[in-house]
Amino acid sequence: MPTLAPPFSPPPVIAHRGASASAPENTLAAFRRAAELGARWVEFDVKLTADGRPVVFHDDTLERTTDGAGRLAETSLADLADLDAGTWFDPDFAGALVPTLEETLDLLADMGLGANMELKPCPGRDVETARVGIDVARAMWPVEAPPLLISSFSRPALRVAREMAPQWPRGLLLGGLTDDWRQEAEAAEAWSVHVDSTLIRARDVAEVVDAGYRVMVYTVNDPGRAANLWDWGIDGIFTDRPEVLLPLAGG
Ligand code: G3P
Ligand code: MG
Repeated sequence: MPTLAPPFSPPPVIAHRGASASAPENTLAAFRRAAELGARWVEFDVKLTADGRPVVFHDDTLERTTDGAGRLAETSLADLADLDAGTWFDPDFAGALVPTLEETLDLLADMGLGANMELKPCPGRDVETARVGIDVARAMWPVEAPPLLISSFSRPALRVAREMAPQWPRGLLLGGLTDDWRQEAEAAEAWSVHVDSTLIRARDVAEVVDAGYRVMVYTVNDPGRAANLWDWGIDGIFTDRPEVLLPLAGG
């Protein structure tokens, strides 16, 4: 069963990788942009560099979102700092960097943004990614801020989160709702279940809500689809376009 009762309550709209339709994903620019557009929470992904430093980055490889090449897990933080993480999105963002977790948490604290920190380990680095990410977050997350929601597709990472930060709610990340989702949610002592919006069905929402968990869905940019999902009773949406969904959700 969920371990955290209300009043913990993330807003219904969370900016996915920051406002990633209008700024390069998982950069400080994307988080600033999310706040400018009115988002109160952002989601971001945490991985480790070759030298074990936590950075905010989605892919296992560098090509899609930087001007570098190769595997993040084989790239040192110093080498990563030489890469441009903005031009691929738009030349206006030339010079944007892959932020460290520390830089990201600093910015969120300055801007008063809440967050869902997704632990997204590179293959084979589940436990160390969770340990390092949570260690940094525990040291930096403001006590007065709403609790940090920690999610992961990685069950070992969620286990570490439960052990190291039992005070923070956990989100079980799934594609579609699996037959054994309930056992997995219980094992993680999850607060919420996060499901792919293209795979979720109305009866899945009812099943999860009836079991006492919150339901969050990713990634929805279409207002019609969002309205439909809210009608089904979901609690939150991760979106690349908070400016489109916020007016529907009232914040
Ligand atoms: O946490 C929700 C969503 O971000 C999960 O998928 O691939 O966008 O990290 P992905
Ligand atoms: Mg993510």
